[in-house]
Amino acid sequence: MTQAIAQKPTGINRRELLNYAWLASMAMLLANAGGVGLLFAFPRFRAGEFGGLFELGRAAEVLPPREGPPMSNPSGRFWLVNLDQGVLALYKVCTHLGCLYNWADSNFRFECPCHGSVFEVDGTYVRGPAPRSLDRFVVKALDAQGNELALTDAEGNPVPVPPDARLVVDTGQRILGKPKGEAYPGHVDRGKHS
Ligand code: FES
Repeated sequence: MTQAIAQKPTGINRRELLNYAWLASMAMLLANAGGVGLLFAFPRFRAGEFGGLFELGRAAEVLPPREGPPMSNPSGRFWLVNLDQGVLALYKVCTHLGCLYNWADSNFRFECPCHGSVFEVDGTYVRGPAPRSLDRFVVKALDAQGNELALTDAEGNPVPVPPDARLVVDTGQRILGKPKGEAYPGHVDRGKHS
């Protein structure tokens, strides 16, 4: 007599295969969500690295003289400007084709060596092929506990910074300069016109 022997199924059946596929897709989804979360949890740039925050110290000790020539910050790629209305951080790259412009003390203005664009001490366009005034980075004034006392507004206007405040420039937040012909509120031309 022939005995029927129950065969143990080998491999995986269709239902198991679908279950595995579902589990794998869920795992990938969670990994992606976690990755995105981590991206937002950690800033892309470290402090003191271009693209990140520059903690400059106590305003009274780090600012150039009020209404005096600007101060260069090479690693942050900005000029720090101290005006009666407040503080500005101007991006060092010309708004025409990206050359590095210079400070011309004799004319009290910025001048670009590449095609001759000229800007006032607050970055306002004067003449040349540049399409707009110089771009500005966001400036923050913080108290000793790290609370924000003042912050650059959406237009990039100068920020009043108390002498005891800690001054921070955020090179990750750039505000485009106004198109040529448009002046900033309260703007005063201090350049020497020739
Ligand atoms: Fe500055 Fe052309 S890059 S004027």
